[in-house]
Amino acid sequence: MATAMATLRTLPVETLAPHPTPIDRLRRLEAALGPSSPALFMKRDDLLSFAMGGNKVRKLQTVLAAARAAGADTLITCGGLQSNHCRVTAAAGAALGLRVVLVVNGAEQARPTGNALLDRLFGAEIRHVDSREARATTMLRVAEDLENERRRPFLIPLGASTPLGAAGFARGVEEVLTAGISPTTIVHSSSSGGTQAGLIAGCALFGITSRVVGISADESREGLTAIVRRLLGDLAALVSASAAGIGLEQEIDVDDSFVGEGYGIPTDASTGALELLARTEGIVLDPVYTAKAMAGLIARVRAGSFTPDDRVLFWHTGGQAGLFA
Ligand SMILES: Cc1ncc(COP(=O)(O)O)c(C=O)c1O
Repeated sequence: MATAMATLRTLPVETLAPHPTPIDRLRRLEAALGPSSPALFMKRDDLLSFAMGGNKVRKLQTVLAAARAAGADTLITCGGLQSNHCRVTAAAGAALGLRVVLVVNGAEQARPTGNALLDRLFGAEIRHVDSREARATTMLRVAEDLENERRRPFLIPLGASTPLGAAGFARGVEEVLTAGISPTTIVHSSSSGGTQAGLIAGCALFGITSRVVGISADESREGLTAIVRRLLGDLAALVSASAAGIGLEQEIDVDDSFVGEGYGIPTDASTGALELLARTEGIVLDPVYTAKAMAGLIARVRAGSFTPDDRVLFWHTGGQAGLFA
């Protein structure tokens, strides 16, 4: 396990955000939730110091090192029109001097907003497709066209949720140790699985015995659990860890009961969570991911799932540009 931790620590990275993010105690939220609230903390990855932050920065730091090693001159990735992952990839390409092609489902806006506006600001080329299903084949076609032009494209799958991307996230868990906080539960938003796999692996490798609860933004519990399990298995191979050493023997905890009518569609609970955090702590969540995850945490506190002795860390994964979509 010590070797796996060393392998994780020494994986090549393209540093985009060199600073650790703060962990804040949410005392006013605790007061609002009443005396049965556990101690609540927030890992402020919304403050990662690159391109408006968020979890994609951590994942891309390792993935981009692989792109560099492969001699890539163009990054190709995909997402929805308001994808946070596309925004950070666009910015990373700009910072590293690489061309970026984004394959985006959703119609072009006459006046781009939110992440779509930022994609353009960072200079990415954008190809619009009609559906989520059309993204993968279009990415392959773009790559083929670029190869025919003697360019060297590098494909980044949805959300950079590859074993290497998850490893990038796992590295960040060491910041919790450094801050001297030992959470009993970590709650976060989960969608393409890389963040959850990274958190589970990071906790296992750095010896943090916290439960990790992923609140789904879209996927079913069964589907997302299988994705996280597969990523963890591949991540174990990547850093030469055993199944136990990477956290694969624990139950994978995905909660899909806060999705509501679907991806990106607010619920009463998510709107309430967004407002409560803004009005108690002055902290901005995003409507698609973190507000639903926070709704999940608040519901658990209100249902008495924690004791006042518990220490619950909400991992803020960013995405606030989505508020201005
Ligand atoms: C702000 C935000 N939070 C959480 C997630 C979910 O992370 P993952 O896709 O690694 O499960 C995303 C992914 O798109 C995101 O943009």
